[in-house]
Amino acid sequence: MKGVVLAGGLGTRLSPLTRVTNKHLLPVYNEPMIYYPIRTLVDAGVSDIMLVTGGNNAGEFLRLIGNGEDFGLKHMNYTYQKNEGGIAEALALTRHFVGDDKVVVMLGDNFVQESIRGAVDAFRAQPKGAKIFLKEVENPEEFGVAELDGDKVSRIIEKPADPPTRFAVIGIYMYDSGVFDICDTLKPSARGELEITDVNNEYIRRGDMTYDFIEGWWADCGSFEALLRSNNLVAREHGVTD
Ligand code: DAU
Repeated sequence: MKGVVLAGGLGTRLSPLTRVTNKHLLPVYNEPMIYYPIRTLVDAGVSDIMLVTGGNNAGEFLRLIGNGEDFGLKHMNYTYQKNEGGIAEALALTRHFVGDDKVVVMLGDNFVQESIRGAVDAFRAQPKGAKIFLKEVENPEEFGVAELDGDKVSRIIEKPADPPTRFAVIGIYMYDSGVFDICDTLKPSARGELEITDVNNEYIRRGDMTYDFIEGWWADCGSFEALLRSNNLVAREHGVTD
């Protein structure tokens, strides 16, 4: 099983914090944001990891993370996303790294409280397809939102104005190596990006998608409010209350 952490994009929603640095290098409590998703993968038993960076500060990741010593790794793989063409565009850049393997993809601005090891092990045993995580949230319109039909996800809608459920699709995705052929078929969305939601809907259409609800809290850093919440949640884990 390979791991991919996506840290491309320009993070313009967090400007001016992101004017001179990459969003994923910003602090979240006592560590740079990018540390958390890398650690989540390593804790889940995924140690062969590629980091996708982009923008003007990509070199800083190398200086910061090196060969992954802070995570007990001996080697880290890097690639560069030239434009901000979307999550699926960033993922497509890892094709040669993933090869015929399966892959766990984690967005570089996502945080989970609990280990995902159980779900990763379950996906290792899943013969093919994909697996996503859902979390019930108060503000589903800010995320990909899943519609359920019994024990299956029947559709995902990206940031719907009128969400059919409160089940957000969080930024951790597991795929078989067929994901890259799906990425090849995508067309840019209204926001000009290759959408990971379109990839997931294709797996759903094929009947090859499973899901788990994520345990514990989940947070991302897409907005100032979300960044503050992530800082507070992580600080609380360290026993800091105010
Ligand atoms: O956080 C979960 C949400 O992430 C999901 O619920 C949505 O379905 C999914 O589309 C995504 O939504 P966002 O609009 O919040 O994604 P954002 O553009 O903020 O990108 C999230 C991360 O993906 C970002 O921290 C780095 C990576 N990324 C993003 C883009 C657009 C790249 O590596 N390259 C890119 O071109």
